[in-house]
Amino acid sequence: MPYDMLVFGGTGDLALHKLLPALYHLHRENRLPKDMRIIGISRKQLARERYIDLAERHCRAQVERKDFTEASWLSFSQRLEYLAMNAEQAADFARLAQFLVTHNLRGCIYYLATAPQLFESIASNLALTGLTGANTRIVIEKPIGHSLQSALAINATIGAAFSEEQVFRIDHYLGKETVQNLMALRFANALFEPVWRSAHIDHVQITVNETLGVESRGAYYDHAGAMRDMLQNHLLQLLCLVAMEAPVRFDADAVRNEKVKILQALRPIIGMDVQDKTVRGQYTAGNVGGHTAPAYYFEKDVDSDSDTETFVALEVEIDNWRWAGVPFYLRTGKRLAKKTSEIVIQFKPVPHSLFSDSQANHLLIRLQPEERISIELMAKTPGKGMHLQPVELEINLAQVFQDSRRWEAYERLLLDVIENDSTLFMRRDEVEAAWQWVDPILKGWQQHYQRPRPYPAGSNGPEQAHSLLEKHNRAWHE
Ligand code: BG6
Repeated sequence: MPYDMLVFGGTGDLALHKLLPALYHLHRENRLPKDMRIIGISRKQLARERYIDLAERHCRAQVERKDFTEASWLSFSQRLEYLAMNAEQAADFARLAQFLVTHNLRGCIYYLATAPQLFESIASNLALTGLTGANTRIVIEKPIGHSLQSALAINATIGAAFSEEQVFRIDHYLGKETVQNLMALRFANALFEPVWRSAHIDHVQITVNETLGVESRGAYYDHAGAMRDMLQNHLLQLLCLVAMEAPVRFDADAVRNEKVKILQALRPIIGMDVQDKTVRGQYTAGNVGGHTAPAYYFEKDVDSDSDTETFVALEVEIDNWRWAGVPFYLRTGKRLAKKTSEIVIQFKPVPHSLFSDSQANHLLIRLQPEERISIELMAKTPGKGMHLQPVELEINLAQVFQDSRRWEAYERLLLDVIENDSTLFMRRDEVEAAWQWVDPILKGWQQHYQRPRPYPAGSNGPEQAHSLLEKHNRAWHE
């Protein structure tokens, strides 16, 4: 059965900056089903031609020049349709149903690239209008809710309209090549498995640092903060991939069963631990990459007295056999010195040291900006005497695969939705388990009124994030 993709929020940032360029790439490489149409939906009254102009402007800006050709654009634009409707008005869904009939109703993929507040009303209106049959799928973006309770409500409403197999919850980090490479590294190489455990690993660090501020998203971000925007989803997903057991098969249920076990094994951070094991920060004015940046509370649409965190660091423990006693340090923040996403597996030192300058090994998995995996090993320096120095064994994935174009996360994920493969999407119980663990930390911050610690834009985050490791004689990998 041919499917069409209906993008609610069709004139929004996500659709114009990410989804349409990703669909254009897939089209150009002949990956899209031949007659799949893409229907942009938003409240704006636009003629189809104007929507195509808008899409073209954004795709030209996003797609590399060598990949954008007039011929590909022309054939891609023939897939585009536009419908102006208000997704909060039940009556407009009857117009949508009519539109689908006049355009030869077939399978529908509803992509909700809208504010999360609209998820429930769109899902229930689609159901009420009879548009949620077996030949439909729905794609929703994080954040799914802002607490366990709201996530339960969204999942329940969506669950009443669609079966779980029809629901695709996107976390775009799972679409990144290097993130999937993490599974290849762990489960396709026998080398690491014997040492991937508490007997050999001292601790793990997961860092997702950004140089950007909140840009034009102040209104959303000021109600979310780093914990809801990044940690509850992207960082916990990375943690799951590092910590999970090998799934019995590489399929949606087997992979997600293992991830959810990790989320359920996270030790709750409650009581005094909220103060001891968590750090919140908020950027003040500073200089990022040679540009002055304003304090967070001066950003557009942000409350001037805001106590939303733009940085968070946590010490997390996993209560299971493999990871008992191995802390996972997680941190993420905006307006930091450098954009880097990386995972560091810090091994324990050798059990009996023969050389005074020997250091413990670490494995670095860099997700962004460059994709590389490196292991730091100790080597003897040339000449007399047994002097050691750490040397790097490095694989630069972009170089190794330089003949292949690097896919954007959304390309891979959109194709998975079209092909009905939900392995890289979050299942309902995963999202709920993540909120279940995050909720008490958010409540703890409120109860103890932990104001975010200030850090200058362009720095490495608040001092307290460093003390989190220093008190155990550890340090962040910089
Ligand atoms: C999004 C967050 O999910 O991820 C943004 O909402 C953040 O605040 C972005 O900037 C980071 O994604 P990436 O792919 O640039 O690391």
